[in-house]
This record gives sequence, structure tokens and C-alpha cells, in this order.
Amino acid sequence: MGKLDGKVALITGAARGQGRAHALTMAGEGADIAAIDICRDLPYPRYSLAKPEDMTETVELVRQLGQRALGIETDVRCAAEVEAAVAQTIATFGHIDILVCNAGIADMALTWDITEEWWDTMIDVNLKGYWLAAKYVVPHMLARKQGGRIIMTSSVAGLRGEPGMAHYCASKWGVVGLAKSLAHELSEHSITVNTLHPTGVDTDIIPGMAKAAAMATDDLVGFIENGHALPVKLVDAMDVASAALWLASDDARYVTGHTMKIDAGRMLK
Ligand SMILES: NC(=O)c1ccc[n+]([C@@H]2O[C@H](COP(=O)([O-])OP(=O)(O)OC[C@H]3O[C@@H](n4cnc5c(N)ncnc54)[C@H](O)[C@@H]3O)[C@@H](O)[C@H]2O)c1
Repeated sequence: MGKLDGKVALITGAARGQGRAHALTMAGEGADIAAIDICRDLPYPRYSLAKPEDMTETVELVRQLGQRALGIETDVRCAAEVEAAVAQTIATFGHIDILVCNAGIADMALTWDITEEWWDTMIDVNLKGYWLAAKYVVPHMLARKQGGRIIMTSSVAGLRGEPGMAHYCASKWGVVGLAKSLAHELSEHSITVNTLHPTGVDTDIIPGMAKAAAMATDDLVGFIENGHALPVKLVDAMDVASAALWLASDDARYVTGHTMKIDAGRMLK
């Protein structure tokens, strides 16, 4: 018996990194997976996003776990594409029980050096993209009357300010406002909404941010490690996926509006 037997999870940004870890962790507990990702580069951020072969690998790995998997190339900034991805998931699997909003970008620049294009892209991917996924999944959950789980990946940058990341921080604080408002709206329907707040996670975002800041990746990792209370440089994507699994499972059925830190004690300091 898996903790998510019979469930369907739609996960954004699932071609690689934490999104893939969520897909494999949830599939390992019996969920079928709709993996959403853009699978191409954008003019911004200043590093590469996932590639189509990353998505193929995620889908293949889920299938190797014995679960059904759907990979859908979707830009989470685009309402029509997100609506179509949700419709395709329901047409294929019949329902959606779990939504994980995870697709995101990061960058480093001083507030006054951020261009209008960078600001708008950051907010569009990291905040509007989360809202759009909820906008199209929630009516389905309400109509089905079976409750549901919505998990949104914020960051420690959604709990504190960070130098050189004002647009990223603004997007991640915005996610908390979105999630807490949704938690109010959906609690009477037994749909929980919670946020994850990881510290630095060992994924492609870290060298991407270092490149943007013209820093050595080791220097950026050293800066992050220095902020931790627990002795670790970066946490692993699976550490975040374990927390999401708990929030998605019946074990957390009465947990909503929670801001869950996976921060190696960063917020203690
Ligand atoms: N890695 C960290 O240190 C860290 C820390 C805290 C929070 N986060 C957050 O975790 C989430 C996952 O990031 P990750 O660490 O796995 O990085 P990642 O870059 O490996 O994964 C992000 C995924 O989102 C996808 N994506 C980006 N823009 C998209 C768009 N417009 N439409 C659809 N998909 C898009 C990318 O292709 C990529 O597969 C992000 O929201 C990020 O902000 C990361």
C-alpha cells in the first residue's frame, strides 16, 4: 500500500530538479503523474531551463516505478496552455488530487539593476504561473467533492529578504499570500494549501544563479552554507520531496496554510 495509491498529481517544472524529485517520490507511493514543463530556454533567466529529453527521462522514470505518466510541454505563464494541460490530464487520468506548483526561475542582480523585462518574467513564472495552475485545477477539485492537496514551492526567500534577489523574493513572498488566501477559500472543501520553503537545493538553479552573478558556484554555495545552523552545504531535492509527500498524504489532512521550512536551520539565525 502506497500513501498515494489511486491519486493523480499534476506537478509543474517536473522535467528536472525538485519537480522530478516530487514526481518520483509521489509515483513511488502510488500516484500517477502529469509532468508539466516548458522544456526550452527563455531570453531570461540567464541560464538554461529543462530540455525535452529531461522531460522524457522524468516520464520514463515514473513509468519504471509502475505508474502512469504524462509529459506536457507547457509555459506556466500562458493561461491557454495551462488550461489545456489541466484538461489533458483530466482527459487522460480522470481526475487531479494533488497540485504541486514548482516551476520557477531565479537570478541575482541588485534591485536597481533589474530590468523591467527581468522583473516581469520573474513574477510571471514564479507567481502568475502558480496562480494559473490553481485557477484551472481548483474548479475541477471543487466539482469532484473529494478534497485535494495544493503544495506551492516558495523558498526561504519567501520568509526573509535576500541581497541581490528582490524580484525573486517578491515572487516567493507573493506565493505565500496566494497560498494563504487559497487556504481560507478552500478549507471548507477539505482542500489543503501549504507552502514549502527550502534553503539552497542542489539543482541547476544554483550554478545558474552563480553564473548570473559572475560568481564561482563554490562561492555561492559557501555563502548559503554559512547561513545554515545544520552542517550541510545544500539540501537535496529529495529532502524537499519528502516534505511535499507528507503534505500530500492523509497524514497531513488537517494541515493547511502552513509554511514548511526545509531550511537547515537558516531561519534560526
Ligand atoms: N534550488 C534552490 O536552491 C531553490 C531553493 C528554494 C526554492 N527553489 C524553488 O524550487 C522550484 C524548483 O526549482 P529547482 O531547484 O528544481 O530548479 P530547476 O531549474 O532545476 O527546475 C525548475 C524547472 O522549472 C521549469 N520552468 C521554468 N520556467 C518555466 C515556465 N515558464 N513554464 C514551465 N516550466 C518552467 C524549468 O524548465 C525547470 O525544469 C523553483 O520554484 C525554485 O524557485 C529552489
